[in-house]
Amino acid sequence: MKSTAQNNSSQEGQRVLPRHLGIIMDGNGRWAKKRGLPRSMGHRAGAANFKKIIRYCNSIGIECLTMYAFSTENWKRPKEEVGALMVLFKQYLKDALKEFLKENVQVRFIGDSSVFDEGLQTLIRKNEELGRTKNGMILNIAMNYGGRAEIVQAARSLAKQVQAGTRKPEEITEEALSQQLYTAGQPDLDLVIRPSGEYRISNFMLWQSAYAEYIVMDILWPDFTPENLEWALDEYANRNRRFGGV
Ligand code: FPP
Repeated sequence: MKSTAQNNSSQEGQRVLPRHLGIIMDGNGRWAKKRGLPRSMGHRAGAANFKKIIRYCNSIGIECLTMYAFSTENWKRPKEEVGALMVLFKQYLKDALKEFLKENVQVRFIGDSSVFDEGLQTLIRKNEELGRTKNGMILNIAMNYGGRAEIVQAARSLAKQVQAGTRKPEEITEEALSQQLYTAGQPDLDLVIRPSGEYRISNFMLWQSAYAEYIVMDILWPDFTPENLEWALDEYANRNRRFGGV
């Protein structure tokens, strides 16, 4: 029987990059606490790093990058902290994203954006419209995103198709469900990096990360550098991916 193992080094001996990389930006709060600053300052430093790491990923040829910015559970945080994050999102969607667009990045948003205020929703729409005219790295920004909610929404839309008679129940396949996700048409995640030392998935791309490699790093997100990313990419390249095979 054919082996499903995949050596992560190409035939030419070059390092193989993940086609789709996910980053859980964690540790902003602790970064601020260590410095006696309010948590919002940690998010501000995290946002500056968000921009830096995205530009770096684009420069090294990552095909698809997903950044986890705000989960469906993050609304439980104190009102001031959520408010400060919304201000940052607006600021970055106005400024930093213009730069990404200049660099040909296809900016997309994943998650339920209908709950954001009108100003933020307009910025999201504008960025997506502009992003559609680009053909470089796909950047998914996960905002008000939850992996379970995404799967429920996909199941619901397949159920509606069955109800309408346009799809048979036996035509509900893994591929069909994948095509109902926010990431339809994109490769599954190959690598997820979680800085801050926490060994948790936190509802991040549950479907798309089925066979992703995970790397947890003991460094807080605002301190995470391109060198740390390079380390993780080397580690990924040395892993032997078996996809459930031998
Ligand atoms: C988790 O750290 C981080 C967040 C919930 C927010 C992430 C958002 C940014 C980095 C802002 C950049 C995003 C955009 C779109 C501009 P935490 O607060 O849970 O840290 P802790 O675990 O140390 O408390």
